[in-house]
Amino acid sequence: MEQKAVAAADGKWREKNIRDFGGSTVRRISDGWMLITAGNTAAGKGSWNTMTASWGGLGELWGMDAAFMFIRPTRHTRAFADANSLFTLSFFDEKYRTALAFCGEKSGRDCDKAAGAGLTPIVFGGGVAGGRAAGAVAFAEASEIIICRKLYAHDFDPARFLDPAIEQNYPQKDYHRMYVGEVLTLLTVK
Ligand SMILES: Cc1cc2nc3c(=O)[nH]c(=O)nc-3n(C[C@H](O)[C@H](O)[C@H](O)COP(=O)(O)O)c2cc1C
Repeated sequence: MEQKAVAAADGKWREKNIRDFGGSTVRRISDGWMLITAGNTAAGKGSWNTMTASWGGLGELWGMDAAFMFIRPTRHTRAFADANSLFTLSFFDEKYRTALAFCGEKSGRDCDKAAGAGLTPIVFGGGVAGGRAAGAVAFAEASEIIICRKLYAHDFDPARFLDPAIEQNYPQKDYHRMYVGEVLTLLTVK
C-alpha cells in the first residue's frame, strides 16, 4: 500500500559521532526497539516502508562504524531494504512504545503505517553526512536516528546453525537476511 508522503526534515537535527549514542546497545535495541526504514523518495512520495526490530547491533566491521540488522523475507520492508542503498534506524522515547508495537504487528502491504502509528515520515537532504545521506527516510518523532549505507547482505544458511535450537525460530523456514551498513551519521534532536 502507498505510504504517507514524506516531509523534508527540519533543522532540529544535530549530527553526532556514533560513539555518543547513549546507553547500553542491548537495552537500546533489544529492549527499547527501533524502526528500520528504507525507501526511495525520488521514485514516489510513498515509496518507503518501516518495521520494528529488536534484533540487531552496532560496532565495527572492515574498519568502519557499522550497524547490523536482520529481516525475514516475509517482511514488506525487506524489498525496500534490498532495493535501496540507504537505511535508517530510528529510536524513540518510551511514550512511542505503542507506535512501535503497531509497526511491528501490521504490514505496510495492508496499511499506511505512519498514519496508523501516528508518526511523521521525513526525508533528509544533502545537508547531513557530507551529502551521503540524501534521501534517507526516518521519523520526526524519533529521539535519535542512525543513517546507514548498505555494505553487505547475506541469508542465513540453516546448515550452518551450530546450535540446533536456533531452528526453532524458523517454523516457516523464513530465514533472516543479515544486512551490514556503514554508519554515516547519528542524528539527535538539538
Ligand atoms: C518487538 C519486535 C521486534 C521485531 N524484530 C524483528 C526483527 O529484528 N526482524 C524481523 O524481520 N522482524 C521483526 N519484527 C517483526 C516485524 O516488525 C513485523 O513483522 C512487521 O509487521 C513487518 O512489517 P512490514 O511487513 O511492513 O515490513 C519484530 C516485531 C516486534 C514487535
